[in-house]
Amino acid sequence: MTIEISIKTKIAPGEAGGIAEAVRILRSGEPVVFPTETVYGLGANALDDQAVAKVFAAKDRPRFNPLIVHVRGWEDAIAYVEPNHVAAVLAGKFWPGPLTLVLNRNPHCPISPLASAGLDTVAVRAPSHPLTQALLKASGFPIAAPSANRSGRLSPTSAEAAFHELKGRVGLILDGGMCQAGIESTIIGFENGAPVMLRPGAIAREEIEAVIGPLEERHSRIVSAPGMLASHYAPAARLRLNASEVLPGEALLAFGETTLNAGVVCNLSLSGDLQEAAANLFGMLRRLDDIGAVTIAVMPIPDTGLGEAINDRLRRAAAPRDAHHDRT
Ligand code: TXA
Ligand code: MG
Repeated sequence: MTIEISIKTKIAPGEAGGIAEAVRILRSGEPVVFPTETVYGLGANALDDQAVAKVFAAKDRPRFNPLIVHVRGWEDAIAYVEPNHVAAVLAGKFWPGPLTLVLNRNPHCPISPLASAGLDTVAVRAPSHPLTQALLKASGFPIAAPSANRSGRLSPTSAEAAFHELKGRVGLILDGGMCQAGIESTIIGFENGAPVMLRPGAIAREEIEAVIGPLEERHSRIVSAPGMLASHYAPAARLRLNASEVLPGEALLAFGETTLNAGVVCNLSLSGDLQEAAANLFGMLRRLDDIGAVTIAVMPIPDTGLGEAINDRLRRAAAPRDAHHDRT
């Protein structure tokens, strides 16, 4: 499908009027951009093939890469997928919130096969952001939504960033301010019945393991998050990771107190707080891009807690750009 890149894009405040307009657009089978507690999403009616196709088109997303289906809660989710005990426990603990569960479609699942890229599983998530919940309630259908960036680029964590990504490609952006978590949801799938982490995200591995015990190592690639393999979350600038010095001409993405300096410096968290760093990550990479940084030296980030997700995104952002075959 080709998309007309000339739609007028409006930013509406996330109030009753804006929500009503977003619902009108969603009901007419068109996508809208909306905030969640993780990042902004580009969503459409998950039951409508044509509407879902417009989401893929608007972000130039390869059709083999499935979307997350947003629901109000567990009751809604099990109308579409086969529950299992561990998934029910996780949903009970972390929903609504930044956790996505990949589960088998149930036999009567009406979700568009395009949304799940023809797989026999569906990724479901109940977001906690009040605006997302209001939108789901008012529209009355599940919303299939990837992050609201063009394929392969940084996820937007503000309405302005979403506008920058999708201007001319979507009619409405609902403005809910800055996203609280700033990094995408953690994705858990099941391999031979055992829970595995398909994508580290806004809920740390440790928090999940505290509830269900150790996650299994992934043994096969049968279950995978297809968007997880290659260069991704890419800013225009090059990234040099685990930098212990700043080379001439480099900008610095710092973490914690440091004596390192550069012409342009952004600090993810002066106090070394990983939650603050996650919330700042994509916004700061965008800012460094806007300033025209060519190479960004990135200080080491501890690999514990939310650091696992931050380091995952940084590695993808730093990956060679010709590895572009697999992106969300
Ligand atoms: O926080 C988030 O998860 C945000 C907000 C908008 O909810 N969404 C998001 O969507 O990050 P996206 O499309 O950028 O990333 C979804 C990831 C992709 O890596 C995709 O391959 C994987 O989820 N995924 C979706 N359905 C899947 C399935 N059935 N099996 C395995 N992986 C799946
Ligand atoms: Mg994405």
